[in-house]
Amino acid sequence: MKSTEIRNRWLKFFESKGHEIVPSASLVPYNDPSLLWINAGMAPLKKYFDGSEIPRNPRLTNSQKCIRTNDIENVGKTARHQTMFEMLGNFSIGDYFKKEAIHWAWEFATEELGFDKERIYVTIHTEDEEAFGYWTNDIGLPAERIARTEEDNFWDIGEGPCGPCSELFYDLKPEMGRDDVFHPDNHDGNRYLEFWNLVFTQFNHNADGSYNELPKKNIDTGSGLERLCLILQGVETNFDTDLFQPIIQETARLAGKPYHEKAEWDVAFKVIADHVRTVAFSIGDGALPSNEGRGYVIRRLLRRAVRCGKVLGIEKPFMYTLVSVVVDIMGGHYSELVQKQEFIERVVKAEEERFHVTLADGESLLAEVLERVKAEGNNVLPGDQAFRLYDTYGFPIDLTEDICAEQGISIDRAGFEEALNEQRQRARAARKDVASMAVQTSLYEEIKINSDFVGYSETAAPATVLAMIKDGEIVTEAHEGDEIELFLDRTPFYAESGGQVADIGLITVGESAIVQVTDVQKAPNGYNLHKAKVLSGTVAALATVEASIDHERRVSITRNHTATHLLHKALREVLGEHVAQAGSLVGPDRLRFDFSHLSGMTADEMALVERKVNEQIWANAVVEINEMAIDDAKKLGAMALFGEKYGDVVRVVKAGDYSVELCGGCHVRSTGEIGLFKLVSEASIGAGIRRVEAVTGKGAYEFVVGQERLLQEAAGKLRANVNDLPNRIDHLQANIKDLSKEIEGLKGKLAAGEVGNLLGQMTEVSGVPFLAAKLDGVDMDGLRNIADDMKNRIESGVIVLGAAQGEDKVSFVVAVTKDLNGRGIQAGKIVKEVAAITGGGGGGRPELAQAGGKDVSKLQEALNQASSILAGML
Ligand code: ALA
Repeated sequence: MKSTEIRNRWLKFFESKGHEIVPSASLVPYNDPSLLWINAGMAPLKKYFDGSEIPRNPRLTNSQKCIRTNDIENVGKTARHQTMFEMLGNFSIGDYFKKEAIHWAWEFATEELGFDKERIYVTIHTEDEEAFGYWTNDIGLPAERIARTEEDNFWDIGEGPCGPCSELFYDLKPEMGRDDVFHPDNHDGNRYLEFWNLVFTQFNHNADGSYNELPKKNIDTGSGLERLCLILQGVETNFDTDLFQPIIQETARLAGKPYHEKAEWDVAFKVIADHVRTVAFSIGDGALPSNEGRGYVIRRLLRRAVRCGKVLGIEKPFMYTLVSVVVDIMGGHYSELVQKQEFIERVVKAEEERFHVTLADGESLLAEVLERVKAEGNNVLPGDQAFRLYDTYGFPIDLTEDICAEQGISIDRAGFEEALNEQRQRARAARKDVASMAVQTSLYEEIKINSDFVGYSETAAPATVLAMIKDGEIVTEAHEGDEIELFLDRTPFYAESGGQVADIGLITVGESAIVQVTDVQKAPNGYNLHKAKVLSGTVAALATVEASIDHERRVSITRNHTATHLLHKALREVLGEHVAQAGSLVGPDRLRFDFSHLSGMTADEMALVERKVNEQIWANAVVEINEMAIDDAKKLGAMALFGEKYGDVVRVVKAGDYSVELCGGCHVRSTGEIGLFKLVSEASIGAGIRRVEAVTGKGAYEFVVGQERLLQEAAGKLRANVNDLPNRIDHLQANIKDLSKEIEGLKGKLAAGEVGNLLGQMTEVSGVPFLAAKLDGVDMDGLRNIADDMKNRIESGVIVLGAAQGEDKVSFVVAVTKDLNGRGIQAGKIVKEVAAITGGGGGGRPELAQAGGKDVSKLQEALNQASSILAGML
C-alpha cells in the first residue's frame, strides 16, 4: 500500500467516525512562541486542548507535518530517525475517551490496513486498569501481549494537559517465535516497532508540580506515516519506503553510485533524502536559512547534506534539483509545496552556492591554522579552533580530524566538546522548546448565549445585555466607575482578529447610563466580549441598550484593511509569489504588513508597489464580499491567510479583479474610498521577514501634508523655491567644500603667526629658553604643529602648550630641543608631571610628547608650575 493511500485511508476512516479533517498546519508555529517547530499532530491544536478556543467539531483528524531536531546526528545511521515526518492523528476534545480510541485504533490497523492481529502488541501505563480492560475484554488481546510500562507511557510535557498512554507495536520478526513476556525492549528494541501512541489526556500538570483531573477528558493520538509504510511495504527502513526511494534513486543517478553497495554511501543517501524533505517543507512554510533559530536548523541540515553529497562525489550544488522529486512524492497532498517549488529551489541553490564558498574558505583557514600550530612546534590543534571551523564553516569534526591526521596533527577533542557543550547550553537557554499549556477553565464556557455580529453593515444597533462579568465573576448590575466585560445579543463592535484592531465606542442605556467600550476580543465561546467602563449610571443584565462604534475610526480601519489586501497582491506581483504573509496589523492610523522575503526592497520596488496599489484605487473597483464553500474560494484563487482555520463556508473578499482573499474583516465598498496609499517604511524584523508600513485616506493625506510642510520649512530657511531646493543644496555643499579648504589654509597662516608671537614671549629657566602658554580653542593636532614648528625655529629650549577642550578635557604638548635631551630633559617626563596636576597622564618621544587631563580649572596652575618642574630637572 502506497503512502498516499495510507494517508487518505486514515483521514477517511476517522471522517467516517464523525471527525473533521483539518489540514496540516504550517511547520512554523503560528501564535505560539513556545515552539521552534510544530513537533506533533496536537501542537497546532493546543488552543483546543487548553480550552482557549472551542472547536466547531470536538472530533478532529489530521496528517501533520512535524519537525524534531533533537537527534539530527542519528539520521542516516538508524532505520527510522528522521528530522521531518508526517504524524497521523485523531483527537477528541472533551468528547469520546479511552474506549473509542482503543476500538478505532484496532479497527483501523486490522481492517483498513490489514495488519495481522497476531502480530500486534500493546503497552499500557502501569496502573491503567481501564485501558487494560478494553484491550483484553473488548478487543480480546491476550494479557501476555500487553506490557505495563511506566517510563514512556505517560505523556507529559511540563505544565499543561497530560495523561497515560497506550502504545501499539507491530512484530517485525514473528519468525523468531513468541516471547513468553512481551516488552518493547526485547531483542534490543529491534523487533517490535511502535506504530501508534494513544494519549489519554486526563490530568493537568500544574505549575506547582501537582496533578489534578481535567473537567473534560481529551484524546490525542499520533502515528508516524513512514512507519506504517515500512510495515505495509515490508521493507527494513523508513528510507526504503515510497516516501524516500525516489529521492535516493535520483541522488544515486546524480552521483553515479548505487544505493546498497557501501555502508558509508548509504548513510549519505539517507541523510540527503531526509534533509531535503525538511528543508523543502520548512522553506515552503516561510522559514529561511539564517544563523539563528529555525533558520539555523535549515542551514545546518543543508550543510550536512552538501557534505554527504561530497562523500558521494557530488561537488556542485545538487540539493535544489531534488526539490522537484519531493514535490512529486508529496505535492499531491501538500499543495503549498507545489505553489512554492520555484522559490524553494532558488533559496536552496543560493544557500548551497554560498556554502561551497564557505567550505573553500574554511579549508584555507584550516591550512593556515595548521601552519601556525606546526611553526610553534605543536602537534595538537586547539579545541576552540576546531570548534570555530565546525561552527562557522560547517566543518564536521571528522573532516578536520582527517585533514589534521594527514599532517601528523591530532585534535584536542576534550576542548572541542567543551566548546560544543557551551554552545548547546546557550542554544537551550535561548529557547524554551517545551510547550507550556496553561489550562484556562474559564468562566466564558459557562456563559451559554448567542450573539450576532452585525457590524459588517451597521455601525450602531439596539441590543440587549446578555451577561456581565466584573472581577472574574458574573454580575447582574454594574455601576459608575466599574470596569466590566459584557456580551450583547447583537453587536456592531468588531472583535480584534485577522490583524484588524477592535472597534471602540459607546453603549448607552437610554438617558440613564453610558458605558465606554475600550476593547473587544473573541471569547472562547466565539462571541464578542466587550471590555468596558461604566462612565455614568447603572447597567443591569437584560437591559436594552444602544451600541454604537466610533464610526470615523472604523472607516479609517476599513480603508487600511482593503489597502492591505491590495498591498499583499502588489508585493507578490513585484517581488514574486514566494511573498507569504507573516502577520499584519490593521489600525485606524496605519497598516503594517509582515512577509517573507530574502532581501530589503529597493526604492524602485517600493515605488512600483505603491503605484500598483494606487492604480487599483484610481480604478475604483467594487469590493465584493461573498460567503462560499472553501473549494469555490480556492477556484477563485483566494489567498488563504497563514494559520487560518477553515470552516466549510468561508468569507471571500474580492477587490475588483485584482485581489481575492479569505478574510473576516471590514472593508470599503469600492477601492476609490481608500483615497490615497503611501508606503512610509520598510525594514527587516528577523531573518527573511520584512515589514512595511503604510497609510491611506486621511492618514496618507496628513502624511503628504507633513512632508510638504517639511519641504516648505526647508525652502523657507534657504529662502528658495521648493523646486529649486536640490539645486540650492548642491550649491551650498559646493560652497561648504570651498570654505573648508579656505579655513584649512587660514588655520595654517594663523598658526604661523601664532608661532612668531609665542617665540617673542619666551623667557628662561636657569639659562634654558622656556615658554609655557595657554592656547584656547586649539586642538591636540594644532598644539602639536605649533610646538613642533617652534622647536624647529629655536636652537635650544623647552615649550609647554596647554588648551582646554570643552568643559572637562585638557590637552598638553611639550617640545624639547635635542641638545637638552642630552642633559636629561625629556618631553615625556615634563608632560606627565604637568598633566598630572589636572588629573591626567600621557607621554611620547623625548623631543615631543602629549598628554590629556580632566580638570579644566587647574589648567593655568599646571602651566604655571611647568617652569619649576623644568627647574627641578635641570
Ligand atoms: N502527542 C503524542 C505524541 O506525539 C501523540 O506521541
